[in-house]
Amino acid sequence: MLTSYKSLIQSEVPSGELIISRTDLHGNITYANETFAFICGYSVDELIGKPHSIVRHPDMPKSVFKELWTSIKAGKIWKGYVKNLRKDGGYYWVYAEVSGVYKDGKLVEYKSLRSPIDQEVQEIFQEKYDALLAKEEGKVRAIVTLNIENVEKLTKLAQDKKITVDEALKDILDDTLL
Ligand SMILES: Cc1cc2nc3c(=O)[nH]c(=O)nc-3n(C[C@H](O)[C@H](O)[C@H](O)COP(=O)(O)O)c2cc1C
Repeated sequence: MLTSYKSLIQSEVPSGELIISRTDLHGNITYANETFAFICGYSVDELIGKPHSIVRHPDMPKSVFKELWTSIKAGKIWKGYVKNLRKDGGYYWVYAEVSGVYKDGKLVEYKSLRSPIDQEVQEIFQEKYDALLAKEEGKVRAIVTLNIENVEKLTKLAQDKKITVDEALKDILDDTLL
């Protein structure tokens, strides 16, 4: 059965362990530690060579990453809060510090060190990012609560059409609202 219920599942970021990754100058992952692989649900091998946007969550506004890249390209450290997407559709929040890696004074890679954040901080940033997303893309994050009967109907509809529950819900909303 194809559902997207997992997209509401938040993974706890282990405290006392740093989530580390490095990228080449284009943002392709060159190194990932085991903690990073564990928390995002991919294996280290799956991550190496992939663009870092592999863990990009659709709730993250574009302007946050624009600011990140402008900062690190200018040789500064970018510090900020990021909601990331797990391979299974779940998510996790981190505080990240992203900066250049230098060899003999020359910029060769970028690195990111991340740590867990408190629930209250997550909520503040979720609200901030919701507002940015609405402004930038006209998108609003919505949580839909359905009774069991409607969940069953929606799941059946999705199965009949061979689409995901998310897509079935989108079709209904498009038909009703447009
Ligand atoms: C070292 C480093 C670490 C990054 N870590 C993340 C991350 O954890 N999550 C994320 O969505 N983007 C991260 N990015 C930014 C991505 O490269 C990318 O800009 C972002 O996911 C937005 O995707 P897009 O540029 O395809 O729109 C990182 C970039 C660098 C250089």
